[in-house]
Amino acid sequence: AHTVGRDADGVVTVGGIDVKRLAEEFGTPAYILDEEDFRIRARAWRTAFGHDADVFYAGKAFLSRAVVRWLHEEGLNLDVCSGGELATALSAGMPAERIAFHGNNKSAGEIERAVRAGVGRIVLDSFQEIVRVAHLAQSLGKRQQVQIRVTVGVEAHTHEFIATAHEDQKFGIPLAGGQAAEAVRRALQLDGLEVIGIHSHIGSQIFDMSGFEVAAHRVVGLLKDIRDEHGVELPEIDLGGGLGIAYTSDDDPREPHEIAKALTEIVSRACDAARLRTPRISVEPGRAIVGPTAFTLYEVGTVKPLDGLRTYVSVDGGMSDNIRTALYDAEYSVALVSRTSGAAPMLCRVVGKHCESGDIVVKDAFLPADLAPGDLIAVPATGAYCRSMASNYNHVLRPPVVAVRDGEARVIVRRETEEDLLRLDVG
Ligand code: LLP
Repeated sequence: AHTVGRDADGVVTVGGIDVKRLAEEFGTPAYILDEEDFRIRARAWRTAFGHDADVFYAGKAFLSRAVVRWLHEEGLNLDVCSGGELATALSAGMPAERIAFHGNNKSAGEIERAVRAGVGRIVLDSFQEIVRVAHLAQSLGKRQQVQIRVTVGVEAHTHEFIATAHEDQKFGIPLAGGQAAEAVRRALQLDGLEVIGIHSHIGSQIFDMSGFEVAAHRVVGLLKDIRDEHGVELPEIDLGGGLGIAYTSDDDPREPHEIAKALTEIVSRACDAARLRTPRISVEPGRAIVGPTAFTLYEVGTVKPLDGLRTYVSVDGGMSDNIRTALYDAEYSVALVSRTSGAAPMLCRVVGKHCESGDIVVKDAFLPADLAPGDLIAVPATGAYCRSMASNYNHVLRPPVVAVRDGEARVIVRRETEEDLLRLDVG
């Protein structure tokens, strides 16, 4: 995070507050989010793209009402992908026209709420949905602005991409075989819809811009086909999110202004070649904004050396507050934060308290050999897809999100209680 340091006693501080105080006041585990860092990153994306492009923060990475207000204040828009995210956005005062609504299977109820609320755009993901949204909007006497999500046949990986003729996954409408062109053809005929653009999202935690380059070229190719067939130049393209962040020191992410420059150039070059007016670009970064801004603060419960293997360090959370290691084999780092230590480093595996041996938070990491119960350790870069994917497995309570700024800490999502759990259990 942006404002992290150590005080004279060697205790890590964030936003001017030391982690021992945070642990005492809010308990552990807890997600500690650096509000200043969040705002700086959001602003950096906003200014990098300037006034000719829009930045939609992807709420799935982490959403709360405070986050919605920060985004609003920093001039960002918001991408939501469920009725729950939409409700959170609206209840925190995000203007509906700055919301994009995503999802491959939005319910009729969700669509109706979004259209009634007046969301800026709905991103259509299938032929059925094109008709569904058109009919709904028409029955409400509205014309809904929509983008059509296409799959361009680029599969993005962390450091490379492979082009595939047909993408074997559930999102979007394939460009291949003229399906996307057919989708646009149908959507243009429906009175309930105003087709404003094409959407493409190629994947997540991407460092290599070449996948975006291929995607942008193919989307522009579709815009050209649409112009040639229908005489309309769609005014917008959205290139999705997916920009990578540093989870460990091996990762080398790009700055928003480099990404903005690269994407803008790619699109305008492709449009020049096709003799199209350059459309307004939008992007949907989630992880790149919120990921680095938070860390998870845990207390060490047990330290168990296994001869010749490694030392298992058990913390008071685990796969219920960070499923990414178990689910994606994700890499994280960890540090002792409640003191400094001159002890030799030992190879550790940080594990949780769940009844499952795959309950691993950090696979392999070095921590000081004098690590002991009661020490506080922190796992950085847990701002994205950790609280938002948290569960109650083993009836473990989900941790709070504590925002720190200028020496002040406040809970923005409170810790779950046993009462919360039992309230749902009505048998
Ligand atoms: N836009 C669309 C249409 C998306 O599907 C996603 C992510 C984003 C934007 C934001 O992507 P980001 O910039 O955050 O990478 N749970 C996984 C990530 C799943 C992402 C799904 N879609 C993880 O923990 O890595």
